[in-house]
Amino acid sequence: MENDIALPDCTRLFIGGHWEEPAVAASYTNENPALRKGLCEVAIAGEKDVDRAVKAAHAGLASKEWAGLPAADRGRLLWKVGQIIRERAKELATLESLDTGKLYVEALYGDIENAAGAFEYYGGWSNKITGQVLPVPPRFLDYTRREAVGVVGAIIPWNFPLMMAAMKIAPALAMGNAVILKPAEQTPLTAVVLARILEEVGLPKGILSVLTGFGDTGKAMVAHPGIDNITFTGSTAVGKAIMRGCADTLKRVSLELGGKSPNIVFEDADIKRAVRGVTTGIYYNQGQMCTAGSRVLVHESIHNQFMDAFLAAVKEIETGSPFDKTSRMGSLVSKEQFDRVSSYVELGQKEGATLALGGTPGGSEGYFFRPTVFTDVQPHHRIAQEEIFGPVVATSTFKTEEEVLAVANNVSYGLAAGMWTNDLARAHRMAHALKAGTVWVNTYNAMWRESPFGGYKQSGHGREGGQDGAELYTEVKNICISI
Ligand code: NAI
Ligand code: MG
Repeated sequence: MENDIALPDCTRLFIGGHWEEPAVAASYTNENPALRKGLCEVAIAGEKDVDRAVKAAHAGLASKEWAGLPAADRGRLLWKVGQIIRERAKELATLESLDTGKLYVEALYGDIENAAGAFEYYGGWSNKITGQVLPVPPRFLDYTRREAVGVVGAIIPWNFPLMMAAMKIAPALAMGNAVILKPAEQTPLTAVVLARILEEVGLPKGILSVLTGFGDTGKAMVAHPGIDNITFTGSTAVGKAIMRGCADTLKRVSLELGGKSPNIVFEDADIKRAVRGVTTGIYYNQGQMCTAGSRVLVHESIHNQFMDAFLAAVKEIETGSPFDKTSRMGSLVSKEQFDRVSSYVELGQKEGATLALGGTPGGSEGYFFRPTVFTDVQPHHRIAQEEIFGPVVATSTFKTEEEVLAVANNVSYGLAAGMWTNDLARAHRMAHALKAGTVWVNTYNAMWRESPFGGYKQSGHGREGGQDGAELYTEVKNICISI
């Protein structure tokens, strides 16, 4: 199947409803990481292209085709996008898998399903975000409107390319904005197809532009005074640079950054379920997930029993071709990620943690890496503090609830946390005390587009998903009339 799929033409940029060559000719070769082989040439957008896209976006926002479109019709258009994504799900999943190295089945039932769902869900919100009439003194009428922010620059990473694009584009368009999307340099394929789909459903010209390229393309977007709002998902380091960059023009900015999420197994947990949840919690998408449960904290009284079952489960995980039905883990996305993961494995050993499993490449040709488990990890170890973003888990033990809470919260991140317990009071107590945007109890990575998602501390700003994810792309205007 992967061999007879047509790759989209990535040598042009989608600007103002047209497929344009970059103003200054430049391109790079995009890679299939599972084969370490070139896939296609991709255009690099420069400052002039960003400027063209911004001008087209403003023209689009002012056009009667967009400004005059009833909110319900915007919703209908987004719903259609969801339908087309569903019709083309196998093709899109194949492209996603070729581009990222992730398992085809995970792309199909995870990424693509969620991308379609995001367009359908936010299509529904387009005519449901309302303002208020406020109880001011009677001789005034005072009300609010939720208006589009304007031009939204969306900069996204490579771990869930189409899904990330959808979770930003769909709510922004639902609220009446224009969007300029910059996909990650590692994974441009599905973004280009998505532009074709939005073109096909009749999105007015200029309302979406797709600019492929590297970090410099994103930088030019952050610097451009004509972009009103930056929505970013990616590394904490780049998130900080973007926030600094947004200061110059005081752009609105939302950031979904890294994590070092604890997954806590209490002594009363259902061990079988906990093993399953902890395993997929760290190894799904090869651990390349901002919510990866990368710190596993196990109560000392069940430590041996839990670890025996956990290590047995991890041993069964086969890395292999993303299209092979027996593969349970695909390839890492790039050589950079492979080197990063390898260097953390080396570091963990130097720091004195025990390498209990894995730690080696998982195949000959691609950037495969075996599921890796460290035991005897100390809370201050860098492998327990820093985001690795790969299939590496740091495990340790604890004695009391107070102790594990302190360890869980003592990192610079606060994206997610998980716990396994049947003690209801403890579950609520812990859930309230954990500094994390999402807390899972007896489940992990259960993410719904209906629910708000985002980070405490250095995991970011703002919430995507749910009603919050729509309101993120609005300004509140207050109107007061003397009557
Ligand atoms: P990155 O943060 O460098 O890249 C994410 C996006 O930002 C890409 O589209 C990139 O081109 C763009 N970008 C890079 N520099 C920029 C700049 N100065 N201004 C504007 N845009 C810029 O992430 P990278 O290098 O691919 O991965 C490095 C680490 O980041 C990973 O190992 C992981 O720890 C973390 N990461 C976190 C993700 C998450 O879901 N929170 C997703 C991907 C990476
Ligand atoms: Mg690629």
